[in-house]
Amino acid sequence: MSAALIPESKLPSLGTTIFTQMSALAQQHQAINLSQGFPDFDGPDYLKQRLAHHVSQGANQYAPMTGVAPLRQAIAEKTAALYGWQPDADHEVTVTAGATEALFAAISALVRPGDEVICFDPSYDSYAPAVTLAGGVLKRLALQPPTFKVDWMQFAQLLSDRTRMVILNTPHNPSATVWQRDDFQQLWQAIATREIYVLSDEVYEHICFAREGHASVLAHPQLRQRAIAVSSFGKTFHMTGWKVGYCVAPAALSAEVRKVHQYLTFSVNTPAQLAIADMLQQQPQHWRSLSDFYRDRRDHFINALAASRFDVLPCEGTYFLLADYRAISYQDDVSFCRWLTEHVGVAAIPLSVFCAESFPHTLIRLCFAKQEMTLDIAAERLCQL
Ligand SMILES: Cc1ncc(COP(=O)(O)O)c(C=O)c1O
Repeated sequence: MSAALIPESKLPSLGTTIFTQMSALAQQHQAINLSQGFPDFDGPDYLKQRLAHHVSQGANQYAPMTGVAPLRQAIAEKTAALYGWQPDADHEVTVTAGATEALFAAISALVRPGDEVICFDPSYDSYAPAVTLAGGVLKRLALQPPTFKVDWMQFAQLLSDRTRMVILNTPHNPSATVWQRDDFQQLWQAIATREIYVLSDEVYEHICFAREGHASVLAHPQLRQRAIAVSSFGKTFHMTGWKVGYCVAPAALSAEVRKVHQYLTFSVNTPAQLAIADMLQQQPQHWRSLSDFYRDRRDHFINALAASRFDVLPCEGTYFLLADYRAISYQDDVSFCRWLTEHVGVAAIPLSVFCAESFPHTLIRLCFAKQEMTLDIAAERLCQL
């Protein structure tokens, strides 16, 4: 190819993600893969049966751009049951190709060149590229372990007349911490007088172990008037490969997000949407008991690690936990994770990859969305260190 045709990258610093790299390394060394965030067990039989049913019934053409009506309605009712406020299913709920698409569409629709966007590090890796492609400037506020609490004084110092959006994630990947209602109130106090949108990534909304439960931006009467809340059925139904998610936002914001969604994917897999609508209506106990399901897994894994020299940080939500390896090694976290995969047979993710600034901590992220037997074998190996 002629040199002139080789594009000047719009995302020059991006290569293959660490998640793909670690999974490849895990496969190469036949290591137990606790790195990437997906379950090694299947989703509910009923959901699979409903998918087969809708395919056989001929629901195989394009879905409506905004999502099939029964699914949008079921999402609206679930939101009301959980957060005490029901969005309008026609104008405020949009079904997307996973949460990733909703995040990208929201950022593309609302961030203009030169706008500033605040996010909290460590942060999920899809936010920064989307902000860059929209011409925005990302301002990162580094949160400190073990609590990863926002310092609201520092946050206030980051605000400027150019701030257009704040991106948060609760329950938080990778720190496994959660926001409480008071955190949302603090956010509201900080931005109330400014024209700033809130993009709230709540894909783990049903995997929350905090006594108070999951605090959603949608439960905050003022914030929800300027918020886009994003969720994912991949996480909720153990079917990350289905890539069905959604966002809830006021009609004026949803209209703009839908304009991007319309030309990004147009619409989402029809039979999967119908099957998920059936699942939400017929088996609400699945998502209602998901926190208990994962709490058991978390406790099982933590118990199995009790004899190890890892220091496990508190885990209040998500299916990840952070473990400190400072008693075991002086290596930096990326080298430690490679070594762990190659020589111990367990793959994990270094925390530093979620942060822009150099990160002196010795923390790795382990995914416990795995069968107990898988977790036991991984823990046995980790306990030998
Ligand atoms: C915090 C967070 N946001 C968004 C996503 C993407 O979700 P989806 O697979 O539905 O696109 C993930 C997936 O790991 C995640 O952890």
